[in-house]
Amino acid sequence: MSETDKILITGAGGKTGLAVCAALIEKGAALRAWVRRDANTAPLRQMGVDDFIVGDLLDFSLAERAMRGIRVVYHIPPNMHPDELRIAENLIRAARSNEVLRFVYHSVLHPQAEEMPHHWQKLRVEERLFTSGVDFTILQPAVYMQNLLGYWQSIERDGVYGIPYSIDAPLSQVDLADVAEAAASVLLEESHSCAIYELCGPEALSAREAAQRLSQYLGKPVEAVEIDRDAWQRKMLAGGMSEYAVNTLLKMFLYYENYGMRGNPNVLRMLLGRNPTTFDEFLSAEIQKLD
Ligand SMILES: NC(=O)c1ccc[n+]([C@@H]2O[C@H](COP(=O)([O-])OP(=O)(O)OC[C@H]3O[C@@H](n4cnc5c(N)ncnc54)[C@H](OP(=O)(O)O)[C@@H]3O)[C@@H](O)[C@H]2O)c1
Repeated sequence: MSETDKILITGAGGKTGLAVCAALIEKGAALRAWVRRDANTAPLRQMGVDDFIVGDLLDFSLAERAMRGIRVVYHIPPNMHPDELRIAENLIRAARSNEVLRFVYHSVLHPQAEEMPHHWQKLRVEERLFTSGVDFTILQPAVYMQNLLGYWQSIERDGVYGIPYSIDAPLSQVDLADVAEAAASVLLEESHSCAIYELCGPEALSAREAAQRLSQYLGKPVEAVEIDRDAWQRKMLAGGMSEYAVNTLLKMFLYYENYGMRGNPNVLRMLLGRNPTTFDEFLSAEIQKLD
């Protein structure tokens, strides 16, 4: 495989990045991984990645070097970053000047939701791609089922699944492994030019319904509880989360509470060539890992 067959992955050391890199390596792809810190390279080296760009995505001079000799780029934007748009604009410019064949963008389900800044910034990046002259594919994943694992300790220990918005808000979710598998196909196949793909699992579940499923699978009661948003905010700020991230998440919680968020699984089914993973399948696999 030559240098020019390489795929550049930004955000490669994060939750999404590691899953996508693993799926690509399984399919035999050659990667260049952009990570923020040296420490982020370790799990990628273990997978066999040996070509890295280490540095901040805001260091705009790095983008030219990162894109050199690259065939396709997969841009995974930082989570809750005030400069998402500027970062993407710089990468799109560098992709164009280095004649990268396609820019694949990891967006989000319903980027049109202006009330959520991290969705709205992604919509504006999508618009920049339309006018950039660079070929593109846009993936719009729902929230990952894996986000539940952040609550796992309290679920297992206390039987409580506590979230800072209505426990009856319906949310489409998707298994990150399905997202990674679909992303790998989209990056390696040439037929996805100019496509926008919504990536959703098969059902929209509220936290109340998720807790009922958890109770069944764990064989003990799990209760969904709405926690106080002011208390959540104080805890996050005290823990060092940036004000931008806290405020953006609060807007997201309010949006979920008011409208929920539902998508459709048909496109993901087409990309995977099978049914997307259900919440029950995800839970049962996670609980097997505990045994
Ligand atoms: N999580 C979900 O349910 C979900 C669903 C749909 C879409 N998305 C979108 O997917 C994207 C990635 O989410 P994620 O859950 O994978 O987040 P994540 O685990 O936090 O990964 C983001 C990665 O970006 C790196 N990063 C952050 N700021 C950077 C900077 N200035 N320069 C270079 N690297 C930087 C982080 O490095 P450090 O490790 O050093 O912080 C981290 O490795 C987000 O834009 C999110 O909105 C997420």
